[in-house]
Amino acid sequence: MAALTATLARGWRRSTGRSPLQVVISPGLQLHLSRTAMPATQQDFENAMNQVKLLKEDPGNEVKLKLYALYKQATEGPCHVPKPAIFDMINKAKWEAWNALGSLPKDTARQNYVDLVSSLGSPSESSGHVKPAADRSQAGYETLLVTSEDGITKITLNRPTKKNAISTQMYQEIMLALEAAGKDDSAITIVTGNGDYYSSGNDLNNFADVHPSEAEEKSKSAAILLREFVGHFIDFPKPLIAVVNGPAVGITVTLLGLFDLVYASDKATFHTPFSHLGQCPEGCSSYIFPKIMGSVKATEMLVFGKKLTAREACAQGLVNEVFPDSTFQKEVWARLKAYSKLPPNAMRISKQVIRNREKEKLHAVNLEECNILQERWQSEECRNAIMNFLSKRTKL
Ligand code: COA
Repeated sequence: MAALTATLARGWRRSTGRSPLQVVISPGLQLHLSRTAMPATQQDFENAMNQVKLLKEDPGNEVKLKLYALYKQATEGPCHVPKPAIFDMINKAKWEAWNALGSLPKDTARQNYVDLVSSLGSPSESSGHVKPAADRSQAGYETLLVTSEDGITKITLNRPTKKNAISTQMYQEIMLALEAAGKDDSAITIVTGNGDYYSSGNDLNNFADVHPSEAEEKSKSAAILLREFVGHFIDFPKPLIAVVNGPAVGITVTLLGLFDLVYASDKATFHTPFSHLGQCPEGCSSYIFPKIMGSVKATEMLVFGKKLTAREACAQGLVNEVFPDSTFQKEVWARLKAYSKLPPNAMRISKQVIRNREKEKLHAVNLEECNILQERWQSEECRNAIMNFLSKRTKL
């Protein structure tokens, strides 16, 4: 494997003209590359190739093989060279990666190459998976980064400057991403956050600028959106894993009960300040949290807004395992990569066996919670709390 790494690194240097450890994605370049919502053009492709030359960190053999294969497919079409001899391991690995793309059209390979390069992290990111450009759009998403490779679809909440608060647009995009992930050929789906937060929960601006005469109508449509959103988590057909990289607030905490695994950095906290905001629990937490942690602990969180540390959340059964932040990404991704190699159909069916008998109940709870929230959002308590938050922001 060391030989494979060294040879790929040499090939990497040859094809990029740089050492795999050379630095810096310039902000200008990043900005330029961010305009990839439309199908990738030849210019996007060339920009992506240039960006590869500027990557600080060696992205690893797996990614390099994928880049190699997509490059060959995009420029030469399907693999047309004979398979190297069995002992020529490096060329055999490259050939296999290219050949595995089958008859993938050149345009799609070009697009996938651009997307893959865009998903490679900057030097500051310990995971090496997420690029922090807040304005970047990918496959039509403006608030998410979505990548799918090696059996893992990763949905990254990507509004780091807003602590990944969930705007109405992000609600919609998460639903679209879940629908796509539910149907793609990945074995597992991950949700995580870009930046220091996992998510600060519902974007409180979703409630701003609502004229009193529109309050009833707006609350109704927000309740419909919330119900549909939570429904996507209830119905998600394959293992869904939360990689909680930092603090989580509100709905991004309550939804965790609908995930199949939750891994947390020791920097994560879990906070549901519903009463402080004049609101009530959602995400089926009013039913699931008492089941997993007992009603007194659930009440402490959901009614009194007690913020849990990651270790407390783990002790209470909301989190599977907590990792030191310094090794979080490395340890978790090693685990996830191993899980993604398990037979996908067996995992999907097992998840469904575990979850299905509760589904009807969960949809009923979701409906009830949304109906109650629809009322709460029109209450004076809620209006005042949100106005307080928003007016503090304007004073700053
Ligand atoms: N809704 C809307 N905007 C939010 C937000 C939210 N839930 N969470 C963070 N933001 C915005 C802030 O307004 C700020 O925007 P600005 O830079 O334009 O002023 C930016 O994100 C950074 O947040 P800031 O408050 O400056 O960071 P912080 O580290 O001091 O505090 C939080 C982070 C999450 C503790 C704080 O922003 C907060 O309490 N947010 C509200 C959380 C909440 O109540 N969520 C709903 C639960 S039901």
